[in-house]
Amino acid sequence: MNTDTPTLVFPDDISRAATLIQAGECVAIKTETVYGLAADATNERAIAKIFEAKARPASNPLIVHIASAADMAKWAKDIPDIAFELANAFWPGPLSILLKKQYWVLDAVTGGQDTVVLRCPASKDFISLIQASGTGLAAPSANRYKFISPTTAAHVLTSLNGRIAAVVDGGSAEVGIESTIIDVTQDVPTILRPGPIDDVMLERALGRKVRYAANLGITVPGSAKQHYQPDTPVFLLSTEELERRGLRSNEGVISYSQPRLAGHLDDDCHIQLSDNASEYSAQFYAALHQLDKLALSCIYLESTPTSTPWIAINNRIGRVVAG
Ligand code: TXA
Ligand code: MG
Repeated sequence: MNTDTPTLVFPDDISRAATLIQAGECVAIKTETVYGLAADATNERAIAKIFEAKARPASNPLIVHIASAADMAKWAKDIPDIAFELANAFWPGPLSILLKKQYWVLDAVTGGQDTVVLRCPASKDFISLIQASGTGLAAPSANRYKFISPTTAAHVLTSLNGRIAAVVDGGSAEVGIESTIIDVTQDVPTILRPGPIDDVMLERALGRKVRYAANLGITVPGSAKQHYQPDTPVFLLSTEELERRGLRSNEGVISYSQPRLAGHLDDDCHIQLSDNASEYSAQFYAALHQLDKLALSCIYLESTPTSTPWIAINNRIGRVVAG
């Protein structure tokens, strides 16, 4: 895409978006997790445009989005029963399943591996776009490589304006953090990226043990640590450290527990999020985007609880903090 051509923004005109996809363009569109940058997963040139727009290394594979579990076998082979059980329990929804790929799936999509990650998203517009395009849609988060994931159309434009054909503006993504990725090709199903669907939910649905990958966050190929850094440096502080330290002017805070903040506090620079993990997830990236626009000297993030519902959030926090 030529950077002189501004990106089109329009609401839920799915046939217009499908026409662009069929012409080999990339279109950003909301999923329930974050906005995705969608392109025809069978079109090598369209896939190349995703990597170019994001400035993302070619070795980093893409999730293929499908309209229902019935499409799994088009993309994957040797599908174990457990994959169908997971699809039954959680699709459409924020769960991505790693499977053995069919021989024809493009190396550009899989990073040259023999696996493919599939997801059926819970977004009516996205499903309509898959159906209208008549193909699976490869879609990474619609942000430049290493930038914060977008949960609104405006966030997409902050890093991709002029680099992609269009954004379908569907309002705010409801879940707010990227899907859980689970590998079902191993003896014990293994969570490669923690997300909205945690180990307890997975074990309850499957009636068997799942595990987290040993080095979470960097097992997934190409996903370098510090994946989601905003321009402003972010530091993680405990509630006590935050209260003891006090704030100087031009410093921002994102908190969850109503800490007693001392010193200079400008209302615009303090974002109080929910102490409920799902609500916190829905607001977290938007809070970072909002403070990142203020050209602050730094952002302090109050460290969140370590209990199960917070695992995915703590994983994303680990990727935004400096150092
Ligand atoms: O919620 C989500 O999953 C969003 C929305 C748009 O669906 N998508 C998303 O895509 O987060 P992306 O590209 O930002 O992250 C996908 C992750 C990458 O870290 C990639 O390395 C991993 O999935 N992945 C994709 N295919 C893989 C494969 N065959 N083997 C291992 N990891 C894979
Ligand atoms: Mg991403």
